Amino acid sequence: MSGVIIGVESTAHTFSFGLVTEDGEPRKSYSALYRPEEGGIHPREAADHHSNLASQLISRLMEEQNIVSNDVKAIAYSQGPGLGPCLRIGANVSRALSDQWKIPLVGVNHCVAHIEIGRNQTGCIDPVLLYVSGGNTQVIARAGNRYQVLGETLDIGIGNMLDKFARTQGLAFPGGPKIEQLAREWHENNPEANVDLVELPYSVQGMDLNFSGLLNAAIQKVNEGFELGAVCWSLQEHAFSACIEVAERALAHSGKSELLLGGGVACNERIREMTRIMCEQRGSVGTWPEKQYCIDNGTMIAELGRRMLETNNSTNLASSGINPSLRTDHTVVTWD
Ligand code: ATP
Ligand code: FE2
Repeated sequence: MSGVIIGVESTAHTFSFGLVTEDGEPRKSYSALYRPEEGGIHPREAADHHSNLASQLISRLMEEQNIVSNDVKAIAYSQGPGLGPCLRIGANVSRALSDQWKIPLVGVNHCVAHIEIGRNQTGCIDPVLLYVSGGNTQVIARAGNRYQVLGETLDIGIGNMLDKFARTQGLAFPGGPKIEQLAREWHENNPEANVDLVELPYSVQGMDLNFSGLLNAAIQKVNEGFELGAVCWSLQEHAFSACIEVAERALAHSGKSELLLGGGVACNERIREMTRIMCEQRGSVGTWPEKQYCIDNGTMIAELGRRMLETNNSTNLASSGINPSLRTDHTVVTWD
């Protein structure tokens, strides 16, 4: 086989090693998810979790993918944005491997990696990315040599909102998939339901969004006695409509005609359906990668590392430090 690039992802809950071949063919990722015993993420505990699993995950990848160290041409890792203690584990492991195997190190922007794996997988060329994950909710499009943020959440990420709501209802992390299931089951039994049945706030300001008000109102509705499935359904309808509205505005403003979904919430069938409908109506193309490439994964980090290496864009030790608040538009796009 041709050489491979390994990617290491460790921005938050997920610790993942993945790879792409030098020609950009992705392979599966080897991942572990830190699940807090109670409450939200505890950065130090998550970092311990990642640190304990590093050698096990990389050994499995090498064994199952039939790779020896000589096959590995470079190692890419998430430099940010994310939680400092978690990012540091991925960066340290990557520096150690780069040193041991004498191969280039490539620090990458996690948000940009979601775009590049989406382009790799779907064949879209110049999309608007609707990036909906736990920590991030952004609408992004390329302008010149940057990916610009056209709109974003002003408070919490949409996935974080779903996880928090789920937690108040005794549903374990990650809450998004469970809310999706409850909403779907409820809607199958109530196909005629109107979105005003469980009234919730809808908050879009230009191309920005926010989700805290929606979260609190949904909790309130359950407390008032509304059925949990009905609240989950209405919560999804409101939150996803807001994202789709902003995405549509971004398409109109940027003049682009492809909408790409990325991030863990893009696994949701309802947001995919809304994307399909909106794009069909305006003659645009809505697209998304397989679920394994929507959620955080090492493969997407490897793919962005590969694209950066094509333009000799690697990272020397002195600039290999993590950057928890790295912005999407900070990264200069040197590749096509
Ligand atoms: P980032 O660092 O990009 O913010 P993240 O750490 O939140 O990413 P992801 O794997 O991208 O990690 O996303 C996880 C989020 O996706 C969680 O909030 C989870 O509840 C949500 N999610 C996963 N599957 C679904 C689904 N089917 N429907 C809705 N939300 C989902
Ligand atoms: Fe992510």
